[in-house]
Amino acid sequence: METRVEQQRSRPGFRPFRHDGIAFGCDYNPEQWDPEVWSEDVRLMREAGVDLVAINIFGWSQVNPRKGDFEFGALDTVIGLLHDAGIRVNLGTATASPPPWLTARHPEILPVADDGTTRFPGGRQAWCPSSPVFRRYALELVEQVARRYGDHPAVALWHVSNELGCHNAHCHCAESTASFRRWLERRYGSVAELNRAWGTSFWSQRYDEWTEILTPLRTLSTRNPSQVLDFHRFSSDEMLDYYRAEAEVIRRHSEVAITTNFMVTAHIRTQDYFGWTPEVDLVANDHYLDHRLDDPTAELAFAADLTRGLAGGAPWLLMESSTGAVNWQPHNLAKAPGEMTRNAVQHLARGADGICFFQWRASAQGSEKFHSALLPHAGTDSGVWREVVALGGLLDRVGELAGTRVAADTALLFSWDAWWAFDADIRPSNSVSYLDQVHALHSALRAAGVTADVVHPADDLSKYRLVVVPGLYAVTDAAADALDAYVTAGGTVLVTCYSGIVDEHDRVRLGGYPGAYRDLVGARAEEFAPVLPGAALTLESGAAAGRWSERIRVTTAEVVDRFADGPSAGGPAITRNRRGAGTAWYLATLLGEESLLRLVERIADEAGVTRAEGASAEVEVVRRMSATHAYRFVINHGDIDLELPATGEELVTGASVAGRLAVPAGAVRIVREEAVA
Ligand code: GAL
Repeated sequence: METRVEQQRSRPGFRPFRHDGIAFGCDYNPEQWDPEVWSEDVRLMREAGVDLVAINIFGWSQVNPRKGDFEFGALDTVIGLLHDAGIRVNLGTATASPPPWLTARHPEILPVADDGTTRFPGGRQAWCPSSPVFRRYALELVEQVARRYGDHPAVALWHVSNELGCHNAHCHCAESTASFRRWLERRYGSVAELNRAWGTSFWSQRYDEWTEILTPLRTLSTRNPSQVLDFHRFSSDEMLDYYRAEAEVIRRHSEVAITTNFMVTAHIRTQDYFGWTPEVDLVANDHYLDHRLDDPTAELAFAADLTRGLAGGAPWLLMESSTGAVNWQPHNLAKAPGEMTRNAVQHLARGADGICFFQWRASAQGSEKFHSALLPHAGTDSGVWREVVALGGLLDRVGELAGTRVAADTALLFSWDAWWAFDADIRPSNSVSYLDQVHALHSALRAAGVTADVVHPADDLSKYRLVVVPGLYAVTDAAADALDAYVTAGGTVLVTCYSGIVDEHDRVRLGGYPGAYRDLVGARAEEFAPVLPGAALTLESGAAAGRWSERIRVTTAEVVDRFADGPSAGGPAITRNRRGAGTAWYLATLLGEESLLRLVERIADEAGVTRAEGASAEVEVVRRMSATHAYRFVINHGDIDLELPATGEELVTGASVAGRLAVPAGAVRIVREEAVA
């Protein structure tokens, strides 16, 4: 089977993104400023070392101010200024947000929420992904933009729309409903088959005709979970289809790589990006620290590893990030001095070949006027600007990293299907969620010094020593069988609770939990027994746990630890099963941070996984490899200076390191070492 990246590269019309060294870029919204400012912008971009600039993202009402009327004068000037300065352009198609003339003329393009009410213009992305009318106007605009700039020498990359599905992924209008029905017909062939897949015998939901089927609108009680799951899948496919339509138009006029910015992040889960990779020429992601999470920096590392997983290990582009505060969280925290650099280097360490920011110059008006930027309201006499210039210098110096690959001998399985299905309206415990488990396991690996590729459950796992499967609630038979074959052939896995519970239709796998993985782990749970948040749950070893337990009997596994208290007291909590030439561990609870770290360290060591020296929850250590060198990244997020054994050239300070590498509190270091074969 072709991998995602092989599919991407073999797709007719695939064009690689080419850039010398590591890109340093930003979104630029010159339409918000008087033309006198533009020359100063370009001069300062050069001063900072910016070399890739995304423009025309929200340009629709500027370049197409009324129906049939296209005005490219200002955009010509901006592209010319950038080009003259040697700055490359990441050119937006301008379709991200329709202008008022379009929504006024065609209100039927507006999205409808799940309570049947329309979402009006005045914000952004007020368009329905299934609307043929919106698509007709948008593609007309793309045609104009692509024809005009398709062979402009400044254009290095095409930026389709913007964060597709950020706000408008789920539309319930008549067009969307009709399109959902067509999607279901293609998937199931007959209403009878759909009834079977959705389990509609329950609550008298049996359908007789396609036309009776609706999108999952708001209901009095809980909705059919299989219907909700399919609507997630449909909505992702629908948006991808829209992306494809824009890309096809561009491809007729340009030889340059085409992409769009993904949102691999904790708070948006509308698109299954594993399906998107084959369609884009370059995987690009937007990432912002989310201070609503317990550990935003750890989540950044996870998102970067997942983005690399989407890219099949190939380099990717960080298309947006922030120098400081965002504007859309309840509390928008500024970054501490050095934090922006650490965040940027985290992305770099985990496979990014370019670091870009939203946005160039902080807006003076509009909803985002208090969002940070490369050039803050305070201007160039500011700490942010000085750090931006320093970062530009650093990215320039580490150009040799471009194209190198992250070294990882562990995989963590992730799936949007599992995320959608796990976090359904109803589940055994609302205080147990998919990302909680995924993040906890990823953080433990990171703290243990293990770099993990975050990959799809159906990906080839043969190169990994260890595979971690956190809360993979929904899994296909094929993926479950592949994991079994991986273990039988000698691999090690750690499966955690609420994995393998249902099939792709959200139908429970009968016979005991963890359903699909029961034989693999050699244990069988008869009942889930969650505990209330905050209730004590301990294991016999003294390990701290919480929120979840199961009533398990082992079949072929040995018991490694047992519940000391709680509803499953005396029963197994951690088990280990020899299976063929390999080993399958099962964790039937959520362990506290320290206990989980100890378990992960033990499993990693037994599996012979490489653990980076000096790593901890506060110190990230990751390697990128070229044919001749290893590049060791050390990112010290903590407030204690440290020293590690290392020998080579240090690229941040330019110093030679002979034996000991000093990494002051808050600093980053990148050591070029001789590669070990
Ligand atoms: C992204 C978006 C940008 C900007 C940024 C602010 O979602 O693509 O246009 O809004 O967030 O953080």
